[in-house]
Amino acid sequence: MARRPDVAKTVASLRRKLARWRDAGETIALVPTMGALHAGHLSLVRLARRRAAHVVVSIFVNPAQFAPAEDFSTYPRTFETDLAALAGEKADLVWAPENVAVMYPDGFSTRIVPAGPAKAGLEDAFRPDFFAGVATVVGKLFIQVAPDVAVFGEKDYQQLKVVTRMARDLDLGVKVIGAPTVREADGLAMSSRNVYLTPDERAVAPVLHRVLTLCAKKIATGHSVATILAEGREVIERAGFTLDYLEARNAETLGPIASGKDGPVRLIVAGKIGKTRLIDNVGV
Ligand code: PAJ
Repeated sequence: MARRPDVAKTVASLRRKLARWRDAGETIALVPTMGALHAGHLSLVRLARRRAAHVVVSIFVNPAQFAPAEDFSTYPRTFETDLAALAGEKADLVWAPENVAVMYPDGFSTRIVPAGPAKAGLEDAFRPDFFAGVATVVGKLFIQVAPDVAVFGEKDYQQLKVVTRMARDLDLGVKVIGAPTVREADGLAMSSRNVYLTPDERAVAPVLHRVLTLCAKKIATGHSVATILAEGREVIERAGFTLDYLEARNAETLGPIASGKDGPVRLIVAGKIGKTRLIDNVGV
């Protein structure tokens, strides 16, 4: 069996372990996660291994990015299985704060509140404190680990853009790399939240990716963006989703576009099936 990765549970222990590599002038990649690891997460670890001498994977279910009505307390926590999976990918170190107070000590009062892509609507319109929660924890992770590179999935496309912008704006010295979305055979984007789906919902869920790819093809061939998206929304809702949004945006700024020629274009979708909220996106 592959060797379990070393685990740091406090900031002091993390810093001690990282110092060995830093002092030797060896590069470090960070892959931030909330655990419940699946093949999508593991693909980020593999990409990270190609970009640096050592890979640190953080596992922390970040309360600051969950709204009170969201699933923080029930979010899947599978630490032992995660460690075994990371051993298989030869991750060097797991940064798993032993409790929430390690990340947010008593009296915690400082937040990173991103604008730009974080204020382009989309997720922000439905989860108003989400990107401040993400930026604050990712900012802390970048400061704690001081990695040379950090890998994020395109699956959470707006998050990728927010984190990239933040790293640049705050001179955090981290190169943010985006990794393609890993999907099930029927196109459903892998997500830790897919375990919530009932068999019936699971059967319906791939409609998101089907509609995204069909709309992308039509937009690429010059059809009216507004018409195509209206049709796409209808298909997704008829399948049983409560749609939050299906939108075409500029792939870099996430600002609105008037036509497929205002590219590069990214199609982004979010909706609820039963109690589970799913998101996905594709390039045009
Ligand atoms: P989490 O949802 O655990 O995702 C961790 C990383 O895995 C993110 O960069 C996400 O985009 C990527 N990922 C998830 N599903 C993927 C898939 N199917 N294919 C490729 N990559 C995928 O995103 C978060 O955690 C948190 O917001 C975090 C950045 C850790 C901050 O708390």
